[in-house]
Amino acid sequence: MATAALDSKLHRTLRFYEATNGKKTVMALTGAALWGFVIIHLLGNLQVFLGPGKLDQYGEALRATGALLWVARGGLLVCAALHITAALQLMALKAKARPQPYVKKVPTTSSYASRTMYLSGPVILAFIIYHLMHFTFGVPGIHPDFVEGAVHANLVKGLSQPLAAVLYLATMSMLLFHLYHGIWSMFQTIGLSHPRYTPLVKKAAAGIAIALAGGNIAIVVSVLLGIVK
Ligand code: HEM
Repeated sequence: MATAALDSKLHRTLRFYEATNGKKTVMALTGAALWGFVIIHLLGNLQVFLGPGKLDQYGEALRATGALLWVARGGLLVCAALHITAALQLMALKAKARPQPYVKKVPTTSSYASRTMYLSGPVILAFIIYHLMHFTFGVPGIHPDFVEGAVHANLVKGLSQPLAAVLYLATMSMLLFHLYHGIWSMFQTIGLSHPRYTPLVKKAAAGIAIALAGGNIAIVVSVLLGIVK
């Protein structure tokens, strides 16, 4: 009896995911979780302005949570995998619905950010892989001065490499557009959209995206200017 109920629930969930709306909902929920990570990560990293000891202590405190940190990392990985899978499936559905490409693409009311989602997404994914090798694993060819546990020094030395700084700045600009459109579409998907509030929601999404990307850019620029040493 219990198995039959579980089967039917699973079946309904799969049926829901098969539809475009199901995939969009998965994108919105996983996007919200990833957005939450970006906020927490930035708040943690901003401690770089409080002196060398702070960020190292923060890193140590995170590692001291042990299993909890691995649960969070696992959850993040699952969210990223679902977000990318749903995005690719939506892209395939869109292509299937319109097999004949337009002879000439006419820009519509869709914003620049929405049209670049499929570019900014893969760029951010590539950045995360590079970023983990840079600051988490300290791959010698990517961060030759990396020292395990020395989070502040690793950050300063890592961002003092001009090529790395350019990569970070370029990706943060992409992150700005991705977050702007992502937050805005999330509101639409969960049904929190009303023509009356559209300008307000768009302004809020822009403000949040600018604050998050801007906070990260401020860290890179401060290292380059020697404000953070
Ligand atoms: C200027 C911008 C950024 C700086 C300075 C920065 C800095 C860092 C540092 C220092 C670490 C290592 C922390 C430690 O070992 O305790 C780290 C880890 C990480 N960062 Fe960033 N980060 C930035 C932007 C981002 C962005 C935009 C994302 C995702 C979109 C991201 C995702 C991650 C992830 C997934 C980890 C590994 C976390 C873990 O496994 O514990 N970072 N970052």
